[in-house]
Amino acid sequence: MSIVIKSDAEIAAMRLAGRLASEVLDFIAPHVKPGVTTGHLDTLCHQYMVSVQKTIPAPLNYAPPGYRPFPKSVCTSVNHQVCHGIPGDKVLKNGDVLNIDVTVIKDGFHGDTSRMFFVGEPSIAARRLCQVTHECMWLGIEQVRPGATLGDIGHVIQRHAEASGYSIVREFCGHGIGRRFHEEPQVLHYGRPGVGEKLVPGMIFTIEPMVNAGRREVRELADGWTIVTKDHSLSAQWEHTVLVTETGYDVLTTSAGAPARPAPLPAAA
Ligand code: MF3
Ligand code: CO
Ligand code: CO
Repeated sequence: MSIVIKSDAEIAAMRLAGRLASEVLDFIAPHVKPGVTTGHLDTLCHQYMVSVQKTIPAPLNYAPPGYRPFPKSVCTSVNHQVCHGIPGDKVLKNGDVLNIDVTVIKDGFHGDTSRMFFVGEPSIAARRLCQVTHECMWLGIEQVRPGATLGDIGHVIQRHAEASGYSIVREFCGHGIGRRFHEEPQVLHYGRPGVGEKLVPGMIFTIEPMVNAGRREVRELADGWTIVTKDHSLSAQWEHTVLVTETGYDVLTTSAGAPARPAPLPAAA
């Protein structure tokens, strides 16, 4: 399989799926507070997707080769959990930070986005990690234009994370997306300028850096899905689905509640 270049009709469908995915995060934001369980957040998102939006939660029963079916409708990754956390009876407490990752299917097309949420009042360290990771994602997005390479994206993300004293998770990456949840290309969040696939208008992929406050190594829990930092350091992730346009980029996973691009972005040296 190679990289799918989307037609105008496919781009329109991806725009709708992207907006709907982002609106699930808008919907769930006020429910993130001390005392609620990740399982309750999942239930609320599931009901909103299925009953209000008439979208399909892509994670539910998703089973790539070598994985058991994912049992829930969103991923909730708390504190040292890096990604793919399974919602359950974990009760959120003041100071926790969590990523909620939403992927909807609308009219056969996927929209994939995630944000960090604070439960009550975060520590200064947690706040800084989440902010730097958001900047990393946006620095990557700002590289997107015809003729740029995937390595250009990975490079700016890695450099900003490491210059901030953090590390980039290598085992998981962004991905092409469309009729399939995970398509080519793989979008690494580290790399070297000028290396890798050249971007072409009509490509759609995610940029979703996972940044650890400590070492980059991760391990998988016995549930077969949840990824945690080996050193139990805090981890953050943000994700957008991005279209390569004739002149640059268009973020497809936007909505009224999506945090703005940081201004100014740290210098892309
Ligand atoms: N949404 C994740 C991503 O950004 C993938 C989650 S797979 C699941 O690619 F099965 F855990 F939902
Ligand atoms: Co993704
Ligand atoms: Co995602």
